[in-house]
Amino acid sequence: MSAAPQPASPTPADARGFSFVLETRDGRLQLVARHHPGYGPVFVDWLAAAVARRIAAGRRQLLARAAGLHQRSGLRILDATAGMGRDGFTLAALGAHVTLAERNPTVAALLADGRRRALADPAAAAAAQRLEIVAGDARDLVEADWDAILLDPMYPAQGKAALSKKELQVLRELAGDDADAADVLEAALRSRAARVAVKRPLQAPLLGGRVPAFQLKGTQARFDIYRPARAEFRPA
Ligand SMILES: C[S@@+](CC[C@H](N)C(=O)[O-])C[C@H]1O[C@@H](n2cnc3c(N)ncnc32)[C@H](O)[C@@H]1O
Repeated sequence: MSAAPQPASPTPADARGFSFVLETRDGRLQLVARHHPGYGPVFVDWLAAAVARRIAAGRRQLLARAAGLHQRSGLRILDATAGMGRDGFTLAALGAHVTLAERNPTVAALLADGRRRALADPAAAAAAQRLEIVAGDARDLVEADWDAILLDPMYPAQGKAALSKKELQVLRELAGDDADAADVLEAALRSRAARVAVKRPLQAPLLGGRVPAFQLKGTQARFDIYRPARAEFRPA
């Protein structure tokens, strides 16, 4: 039986005409973009079939190789641009310990609710236990002891993204364009992480013009892999 819906907390339409409602319905926290009447609610859904397919693709898939998870399990990964946490949850399900950093408080609340539901699901609980959510700017976390830092900033007309086009549109309207993504990369490159992986659409220019150590390319997306100068030696 699902809990009775809590009263919605609508925000007045802003100058751009956007109006969001954060509500609890059917036992989950969800975001409704009232200015898109045809769109469904946005919520963190790590139990979706699309996420299960990504997990089933295993440690040889692009995302896992970008993080270095194909070589060693139990990596400590900072997902510096958590969003709806699909990449982060996939990495946790493949054995990593992942900290999801999300600076937009509404998105961070959606993530916390998604983790709560995942912990209650036997199929997802183990991965959810390896996930921590930090509501704040990832730049404040880069100095900790990470094996890998992952960045997946917003990009205009994103190709094969972890999220559907409508979800991405709502997320972009809520959280912005990540225009400072190159600054986040600079902070990550000054860290002790063994590697920094930046997810980009295949044809996108290099973030901040920074040339990576190497690239991993898929059909629509690529990862630019950097080796911060301060990184201790770890096997490639
Ligand atoms: C394109 S989405 C990431 C999608 C994500 N990879 C997924 O699987 O759902 C980018 C997210 O990163 C967040 N973000 C951008 N810069 C950030 C920063 N410096 N610290 C924390 N969060 C950040 C944005 O608020 C946005 O929610």
